[in-house]
Amino acid sequence: MKQWILGAVALAASMGAAAEGQVNIICSVQAEWCNMIATVYTRTTGVKVNVSMKGSGEALAQIIAEKENPKTDIWFGGTGDPHLQAAEQNLTLEYKSPSLPQLQGWAQQQASQAGYKTVGIYSGPLGFGYNTELIAKKKLQVPKTWNDLLNPALKGEIQVANPASSGTAYTMVATLVQLMGEEQAFEYMKKLHKNISQYTRSGTGPIKAAARGETTVSISFIHDAPGEKMQGFPIETVTPADGTGAEIGSMSIIKGARNLEAAKKFYEWALTPGAQEMAAAARQFQLPSNKNAKVDPRIPDFKKIKFINYDYAKYGSSAERRRLIAKWEKEVNSLPR
Ligand code: G6P
Repeated sequence: MKQWILGAVALAASMGAAAEGQVNIICSVQAEWCNMIATVYTRTTGVKVNVSMKGSGEALAQIIAEKENPKTDIWFGGTGDPHLQAAEQNLTLEYKSPSLPQLQGWAQQQASQAGYKTVGIYSGPLGFGYNTELIAKKKLQVPKTWNDLLNPALKGEIQVANPASSGTAYTMVATLVQLMGEEQAFEYMKKLHKNISQYTRSGTGPIKAAARGETTVSISFIHDAPGEKMQGFPIETVTPADGTGAEIGSMSIIKGARNLEAAKKFYEWALTPGAQEMAAAARQFQLPSNKNAKVDPRIPDFKKIKFINYDYAKYGSSAERRRLIAKWEKEVNSLPR
């Protein structure tokens, strides 16, 4: 732990430590990571990092609201679909980082299909979290497929976030539509609705609730489980055997950013291996996009997971995202349970 901090400090220092000023960030990963990058970056460069934490959907809503007078310079993290939507709506700035060749193919693709108005910084698979003690106590089966979540024995036992505020939940909606076809996917989500106790605002709410025994099962990014486990909670994950989606967590510079030069420097730093390794140090285990970043053993092994061929361009388009969320509100969320 100490070693990477030293490495990251040295790295940031070598990237222009004397520069001062500030950079305003909307951060859509968990607080520990947001705070760590802000603290390390400020300590090493003298640049003040002002962080505001928002889920992916809420972050996009704020960036749209600030359009005429942006107060944000960088949007760091959160699922890629709303970053693509922001790019399409011309809310983010085209910027081609010289570090692009160091990034994984999926991260470069995220950038190129957005006209370089965003870039992939991490990836993570969607799956199910479950509280091992509650599963045993309630004599329930561990769900292994999407259909297993429809088991009437799981009534009131499952939590997932609301896709309007949470990129995690939107990833689920888009994954199901691609896996089952739209009509079937909505039929499925209507049935699933009966087993859901709560649609949370934030994507990590459900796995935190499962870890703490407030719900038995969550639909979550599985890389959020090891951090809960490290705190001693009885949580395990599975990815659905019939296939699942993955997010491409992204980062974008806001068009009209007031602190543009500072924003570009921070952006470059955030793409370095040292900065990306801070995720694991902050107990968040997404796969980093920089090929030279160390892959912590707790990061999910993508080779063992059955993935759908997620169409990021289509499901990140404004029209599609808006349409699917509105349809979910109308046809699923409004139903009685
Ligand atoms: C967590 C995950 C991230 C993800 C984010 C999305 O922080 O660790 O990988 O991008 O949630 O948050 P949201 O609230 O938009 O679902």
